Amino acid sequence: MIHSSAPGKLMLFGEHSVIYGNPCIATSINKRLDVYLNDKNENGKELECTTIDALGINAKFPSNFEQHKFLNLTIAKFFEKYGQKNFELTTKPMPKGLGSSSAVVVAAVKALSALYNLTWSNDEIFKFSYEIVKEGQNGRASGYDIAVAVYGGTIRYENKNGDMKVKKLKNIRNLIAIDTGIKSSTTELVREISEKRNKYKEIFDGIFKIINKIVDEGEKEIMNENYEKIGELMNINHGILNAMGLSTYEIEILINGIKPYCYGAKISGAGRGDYIIAICKEQSKNDLMNYLRDRKIEAFEILPAEGVDVKFIKNL
Ligand code: PMV
Repeated sequence: MIHSSAPGKLMLFGEHSVIYGNPCIATSINKRLDVYLNDKNENGKELECTTIDALGINAKFPSNFEQHKFLNLTIAKFFEKYGQKNFELTTKPMPKGLGSSSAVVVAAVKALSALYNLTWSNDEIFKFSYEIVKEGQNGRASGYDIAVAVYGGTIRYENKNGDMKVKKLKNIRNLIAIDTGIKSSTTELVREISEKRNKYKEIFDGIFKIINKIVDEGEKEIMNENYEKIGELMNINHGILNAMGLSTYEIEILINGIKPYCYGAKISGAGRGDYIIAICKEQSKNDLMNYLRDRKIEAFEILPAEGVDVKFIKNL
């Protein structure tokens, strides 16, 4: 059996602006998506999973399984380029809103490339996965989430007309992922911001220039391990995202509520929901977690996570 896994992600600086060829900074998170090839279950135990039979025989999916489309596209691409093979692919999902679509593609591409005996570098895994995700999202995707799933860690990412650059930065301590409890649609928000940008071209050029500066400063302060400044830059980036119409009343209440415990907090990703990201003061971490727990708000500390990996496990 082949077992691969890829991490989810959160955005630290530069969402939306990254779509237009600008840089961003993102981090992998310690929630991974697992893909198993050729074996339905682990040690005879049923996993809470979705199984796809590559040739379409007995394929069964729960109707709400979002990664279904991406897995089908991935398998179809391998069949088209490298010929059909019969196998069974099983995934063990991760929580929503943390990059499961990119993680499932990257983990599946890694596992399938091993099955097809292709010795791909990370750059090749990225390229193949990016094509699939772009197809699944109708062309509008920066690919930052794919890069995080492939390379892992905290990265500066840029993609100018397919010329992709990734730079590894230092891992950041005391980052907290907080679930807003609101589901948001990346596709719709990307379209909305693109329309606004067409309407207010010069204003958006100015906004993206400021965000680029925040990314540069953010990179510097991450390397300096200056968490107070990273937090201040997150607050500035959040204010800009709010001005772009990407925050909500509930998100503002949440961010204001956690302020005493944090150096900074912001929307992470498309906006209007999913997760926010905060950098908390070391001495206030427990108080922050208690504050969130008391309000039944889901949150977890982001711990360093490696990029995609693969293991060959002997069938028992
Ligand atoms: O909400 P997410 O994690 O899918 O992130 C969206 C980030 C955008 O910049 C808005 C889109 C992208 O592809 O970079």
